[in-house]
Amino acid sequence: MKTLIKNAKIVNEGKIFEGDVYIEHGIIVEVASSISMKSNDVNVIDAEGKHLLPGLIDDQVHFREPGLTHKETIATGARAAVAGGITSFIEMPNTNPQTTTIERLEEKMSIAERDSLANFSFMLGGTNDNLEEIKKINPTQVAGLKLFLGSSTGNMLVDDEKVLEKIFKNSPVIISAHCEDENTIKKNTQAHVDEYGEDIPIEKHPIIRSEEACYLSSSNAVKLAKETGARLHVFHLSTAKELNLFTSKKPLKDKKITAEVCIHHLWFNDQDYAAKGTHIKWNPAVKTKKDQKALLKALNDNVLDVLATDHAPHTLEEKNNSYLKAPSGGPLVQHALPALLQFHHQGLLSLEKIVEKACHNPAILFNISQRGFIKEGYKADLVLVDLNSPWTVNKENILYKCGWSPFEGVSFNSRITHTFVNGNLLYNNFKFTNLAKSCRGERLEFER
Ligand code: DOR
Repeated sequence: MKTLIKNAKIVNEGKIFEGDVYIEHGIIVEVASSISMKSNDVNVIDAEGKHLLPGLIDDQVHFREPGLTHKETIATGARAAVAGGITSFIEMPNTNPQTTTIERLEEKMSIAERDSLANFSFMLGGTNDNLEEIKKINPTQVAGLKLFLGSSTGNMLVDDEKVLEKIFKNSPVIISAHCEDENTIKKNTQAHVDEYGEDIPIEKHPIIRSEEACYLSSSNAVKLAKETGARLHVFHLSTAKELNLFTSKKPLKDKKITAEVCIHHLWFNDQDYAAKGTHIKWNPAVKTKKDQKALLKALNDNVLDVLATDHAPHTLEEKNNSYLKAPSGGPLVQHALPALLQFHHQGLLSLEKIVEKACHNPAILFNISQRGFIKEGYKADLVLVDLNSPWTVNKENILYKCGWSPFEGVSFNSRITHTFVNGNLLYNNFKFTNLAKSCRGERLEFER
């Protein structure tokens, strides 16, 4: 129950400093340049040469339970997340059945309480006809409301404008939106079917799910949020054009409209379709190199607020279909932090910025209680990383239930050596500890 992490390079709140962290009963009790042993029953971990980060909080994952558990389960998704340094996740409602009532949401909470190594929350899904259910959300217990303003996996499109306005006016929690304009996508798809029949090349995906489709939808959502005063968070931005809808001029806590960027839109661009094919088919689509660069700049400039994964596994059998039949999405939670640290090695993102966007900001944005920072009195969700311990992603070390990764064959310089969730060391050097057999994550709570 007592752990002392010694000699770590602690990355927190814009600084990196050498120090020790003392944990008791899951809580960070002390952070100081040097802490001496408090008693004999303390587990001491020498972190010499390693960086200590707050555990990542991923605000967008699809863990597929209930109903789609051939792709992933809450247990397998959370396990892969912990191996990837993600200690808390917020899961999406496009399961089967869909999470569109409080009762179904609580069923998922119960599964997570039983099975999840990581801390968890879930979003309720908005539909054209569940406004009364939305009004029942308890803001201190539920992360948010998810709206698909553009259809994606799971057919959860909300397209009735009158209903949308009512949802924006009445949601008791932050609205997180998937923005792609449905009519534009339909029109573009039809034009490509007319030209290519069933054999549309995957390279056309960003032309079908186009920049215009993204911009139309996200600008409408932003307009509606401004008109209604709703708290809007736009998920997975993928284009340079949408960035002018968001601002860096206010501190995050004062923003009413915020935006997220995902690992795949930073890592890949449309030149990768030739080698990766439908394995990098996502909604919204991976777009051009210009978009990729602009997203990275906007993240550094604080126009974009949060880094997430949109972990959305499908089986290889499903993904290996032709363009129209292959589902969009791919597994990411295990490899997001190593990929971000690779950006650090390339001089594109500082460690402080990674921590700000993937740890602190999700906690601030969702008002998550006691997490996301290395601070006294906070829960001990912590990750130790070795920046110089190269490894390569391959089938043998992939933990996703679907058994593949868009990063297969990629070598990362950095390795996650330890993951602590609520003070429990659950993962150590590519292995889960004995504690992982019995410890479970906690339900996230929100100070709202
Ligand atoms: O590519 C995607 N896949 N985007 C989404 O919004 C949903 C996700 C999924 O659930 O497969």
